[in-house]
Amino acid sequence: MCGIIAYIGKDRVKDVLLDGLEALEYRGYDSAGLYIAGAGPIKAVGPVANLRKKAALMPDGNLGIAHTRWATHGKPSEANAHPHTGRGSIWAVHNGIIENHSELRQKLMGEGRVFASETDSEVVPHLIERAMERGASFEDAVFETVRVLKGAFGLAIAHRDAPDRMVAVRMGSPLVIGVARGGRIIASDAAPVIRHTRDVVYLKDGDVAIVSADSHRIFSFLKEAVSREGETVPFGAEEAKRGGYEHFMLKEIMEGPEVLRNAIRGRIAKDGWRVKLGGLESNDERLRSIERVVIAGCGTSYYAGVVGKYLIESLADIPVEADIASELRYREPILTPKTLLIALSQSGETADTLEAVREAKRKGAFTLGIVNVVGSSIARETDAGIYNHAGPEVSVASTKAFISQTAVLALVALFLGSQRNLGASRRKEVLEELSALPEKMERILANRGLVERIAKRYAESGSMLYIGRKYMMPLAYEGALKLKEVSYIHAEGYGAGELKHGPLALVSESFPVFALAPRDSVYEKTLSNMEEVRARGADVIALVTEGDAEASRIAKETIEIPETIECLYPALAAVPLQLFAYYAAVARGLNVDRPRNLAKSVTVE
Ligand code: M6R
Repeated sequence: MCGIIAYIGKDRVKDVLLDGLEALEYRGYDSAGLYIAGAGPIKAVGPVANLRKKAALMPDGNLGIAHTRWATHGKPSEANAHPHTGRGSIWAVHNGIIENHSELRQKLMGEGRVFASETDSEVVPHLIERAMERGASFEDAVFETVRVLKGAFGLAIAHRDAPDRMVAVRMGSPLVIGVARGGRIIASDAAPVIRHTRDVVYLKDGDVAIVSADSHRIFSFLKEAVSREGETVPFGAEEAKRGGYEHFMLKEIMEGPEVLRNAIRGRIAKDGWRVKLGGLESNDERLRSIERVVIAGCGTSYYAGVVGKYLIESLADIPVEADIASELRYREPILTPKTLLIALSQSGETADTLEAVREAKRKGAFTLGIVNVVGSSIARETDAGIYNHAGPEVSVASTKAFISQTAVLALVALFLGSQRNLGASRRKEVLEELSALPEKMERILANRGLVERIAKRYAESGSMLYIGRKYMMPLAYEGALKLKEVSYIHAEGYGAGELKHGPLALVSESFPVFALAPRDSVYEKTLSNMEEVRARGADVIALVTEGDAEASRIAKETIEIPETIECLYPALAAVPLQLFAYYAAVARGLNVDRPRNLAKSVTVE
């Protein structure tokens, strides 16, 4: 995820910026750049060390803005790295996604403005410069600009001819001002700030801050003065990288609502029932001819693929197979030009999934990558792509990737459905519910103390069984994978209907069962399965829809999630499962973020 550091003050600005960029490296990035007033910009692809080498040759100053970029619009390259400018007077660094960038860009280009990058961010300096050329002051031009931007943006902006101040803007992308002796810092999180000061002011959405070396004033987008209390950062540098959380895994689980917002941002048309996915729209004809879908992935991505199968079959009425990529590539699969192969991968580098893509291409299938890492191998080799925009995932356990994969797959299913027989009202219903999920997920996260208590209670179990039906079956697999991966507790996931066909023999008093039983179309059947295991003495931990007294009567422990429509329960249900695995691992004193024997990205077979 991109990082911002900007500084104005007495210290050597070059050191503050470069050290700050290094402190932001943990967020993941592909390129970096900085602008120092009076000295100009420099940019470099790759590690901050590359930028440092270039910076050695440039003069210092007392105001600068800098950025680490995690590509979203446009490949990793120097041209796409920030800071961006229009005609050289305004320089800006940006985190987030500007949804209406293409219409703004068209308009600006129509007026003769020349764009140097493929990014959504570049519209910002152009708009500010245009407003200034029409007579606005620097600050007023910023106010004018932020009012026309749609989407999420954290901005730090410098004006070549105003070296006594810079401007910070926050809308949906965090920014903090550090109040140091002799200077002020603007940053995307506290990590690069606390080496200078622990006194900070967190901006809120809709804030514009005008920052000089010894003061800052905060306004609304309508230029009304706003007051924000200062705070003292209560944690150290390492913890700051984890957003104040003990582990990356918890930080990443807590990012779930934002991950959902980013997955759907700009992808729902104004009418509320059309899905806008550039990678699919540009292949409209080819996708209309598809008669079968095969989804390939590994581990958690494969389980998201099973959710995708259910989504696409029910919303688009196309036959779908979800396949473990390592099986698909070796089992002589039937893939034809009328097959759509969807490759699901957080890293975009998983060897088996990449080979499945290559096999599908050899056989003439159309390939679509749903990938989080921009510019990764799968992103490059597939015929079309959709990025998750989940930001980097540091912990080995896939958490936010799974959440965003289920959301993107819902969008894909709706898009394919719109090409076939799926009515506008059903599409609208799903999209409205999808848009409501982030807030519902926040409610689940606010209740994480309960999951922690239950996980502690079962942390010494030798084995656990996870059961679910329909959309909850892949979630049962995923819950079991998460638990074994981070807590080393043996766990199995099963379709609840399979209990009597074997696994029921395992169930006893010392064998807790995690039952996934939201109020969906198979709820009553799952309830019967819960009765079955309880009758064998097992403790049932039930994940249920809010207010479900019936399931609570059978279960020993109940975790509630808000109501949603059946096909969207997976995103919500994943969160308590992730939290349960996390807290069980913490209770066992394990290295949660780096489980033994595992790597984040499996680039070999
Ligand atoms: O990067 P990918 O999504 O392709 O990775 C696939 C799996 O290796 C990954 O999901 C793995 O199962 C996770 N560690 C599970 O939490």
